[in-house]
Amino acid sequence: MTIIEILLRRRSCRRFLAREVDRETVEKLIKATLTAPSSKNTRSTRLAVITDRSVIERLGATRTHGTSFVSDAPLVILIMGDQAASDLWVENCAISATVLQLAAESLGLGSCWVHVNGRPHVDGQPEGMSAEEYVHSLAPQSARWRVECMVAIGYPAEEPRPRRETDDSDKVVFVE
Ligand SMILES: Cc1cc2nc3c(=O)[nH]c(=O)nc-3n(C[C@H](O)[C@H](O)[C@H](O)COP(=O)(O)O)c2cc1C
Repeated sequence: MTIIEILLRRRSCRRFLAREVDRETVEKLIKATLTAPSSKNTRSTRLAVITDRSVIERLGATRTHGTSFVSDAPLVILIMGDQAASDLWVENCAISATVLQLAAESLGLGSCWVHVNGRPHVDGQPEGMSAEEYVHSLAPQSARWRVECMVAIGYPAEEPRPRRETDDSDKVVFVE
């Protein structure tokens, strides 16, 4: 598949087969993710590769909405940033997560970005525990880094929905 074919095919996948992702494939994903461009080449992105079932099951409760499917993923990768390494750690994380999702697609895996940074653990309770604090409590090894998102990964239990044709002409200007 060319990169354009991968871009056109990729959709968020939230249903996974109960098939584990082998170590060699995980290593390929890590290597690909760490090639992501970063501000001033600071390479501020940090990863936590999670295969522990009990941790993954509890990651499904990171937020009240939009995270429960994570519990059934065989693999979750936390995309984190070292704040001391770059003031643009969020941007660097976003690129890393995108590269990871495209690498996953190229290897026949499905994936979905699940947001963490700036969200409460419980909807409507912004003063309570943050989603990030909850994630750190489950993966204390990563507590020194900021968590932008997690990417749930696995072999897809469904075909990706075909992308709808949309009129995007209002999203682009040509300066000629
Ligand atoms: C910044 C960001 C945050 C997202 N957060 C979530 C999330 O918390 N839960 C979820 O199920 N999907 C999440 N997604 C996936 C989007 O819902 C998905 O990319 C979007 O609906 C477009 O669908 P597609 O990925 O199939 O093209 C997120 C995506 C991005 C880029």
